[in-house]
Amino acid sequence: MKVVGGSASISLARAIARELGAGYVDVSFERHPGGFPDGERYVRLLAPLAGEPVVLVQTTWPDPNVLEYFLLADAIRDSGARRLTAVLPYFGYGRQDRQFLDGEAVSAKVLAKHIALDADEILTMAIHNPDIFRTFPVRAKEVSGMPALARYLKGTDVDLILAPDDGALRHVKEVAALADLPFDHFDKERLDSYTVKVKPKALDVRGKSVAIVDDVISTGGTIATASRELKAQGARRVTALCVHGLFVGKAAENLRACDEVVATDTVLSAHSKVTVAPEFAAALR
Ligand code: R5P
Repeated sequence: MKVVGGSASISLARAIARELGAGYVDVSFERHPGGFPDGERYVRLLAPLAGEPVVLVQTTWPDPNVLEYFLLADAIRDSGARRLTAVLPYFGYGRQDRQFLDGEAVSAKVLAKHIALDADEILTMAIHNPDIFRTFPVRAKEVSGMPALARYLKGTDVDLILAPDDGALRHVKEVAALADLPFDHFDKERLDSYTVKVKPKALDVRGKSVAIVDDVISTGGTIATASRELKAQGARRVTALCVHGLFVGKAAENLRACDEVVATDTVLSAHSKVTVAPEFAAALR
C-alpha cells in the first residue's frame, strides 16, 4: 500500500503511512521552471504506483484543495494504481447535505459524485450528517475522531464534558465514555449563520473545569456562547475541543471566551494539538 498526501494534509498523510508501515509517495506541487505562471494548482507524483493499492489523503476545504484532490486522484489512476481509497479528513461541503431552498445544489452529494469517478471508497471523519452517504455512488465510512480527543482529555484536569447542542451529543457521549468522564448538554438555537443562543439551563459546573466538544468550530459563535454561559454559571475553566477547526470570520475574537482551544489535524491550524492518524490507520487496516 502507498500513501499520497495532498498539500492540505501532508503531515497527516505521512503519519498515517508511518502507522501503517506503508510507503509515502512524495508529490511535487511546484511547476517546473518555465511552467505557466497562472496560479493554477499543479501536481506531479514522484514515484511509480502501477499495481498498488493507494490511499490519497486530502482535506477538501477550502476550494483549491478540492481541485488539487481531483488532480492527484486522476494522476494516481493514470499511473496504474490498482485501487484508490480517498481519505478526506474534513469533508468540505458536508454541511450542504440537502436542499434548504428550491434550486440549490446538494453540495455534499455533488462532491461525492465526482470523487467517486476515481475513488473506490471514501473514508472521512465527523461529517455533518452521515446519512448523506446513502446518496454517494461508492462505499463511504465515517471514522470517529473522538478517540483522539479522548486521548487529549486524559492528560487534563477536565471534570465534565458538555455538548453545545443536540447535534454534538452523539460525539460527546462517545468521548465521555472513552475518557471516563460525565457529560451534559445545552440546547442551541441558531439565529443566523453567525449568531446562536443557548436556551436557559442550569448545570452543576461551579468551580469545575469543563470541556465543550463539537464536531466543527467554524466562526466560534457556538463555542463562545456556550463558554460564556458556563462561566456565568461558575465554571472555573473552559476548554473547547473539536475535530475540525475551520476558524473563519470572527473566530479569533470568539475563541477568547475559552481558556484553551484544541483541534485535530484534519484541518491544520495553530490549534491542531492532536492527530487523528491512529484512527484513520486503524480504519485502513
Ligand atoms: C453545527 O451543527 C455544528 O455542530 C457546529 O456547532 C457549528 O457548525 C459550529 O459553527 P460556529 O463555530 O460557526 O458556531
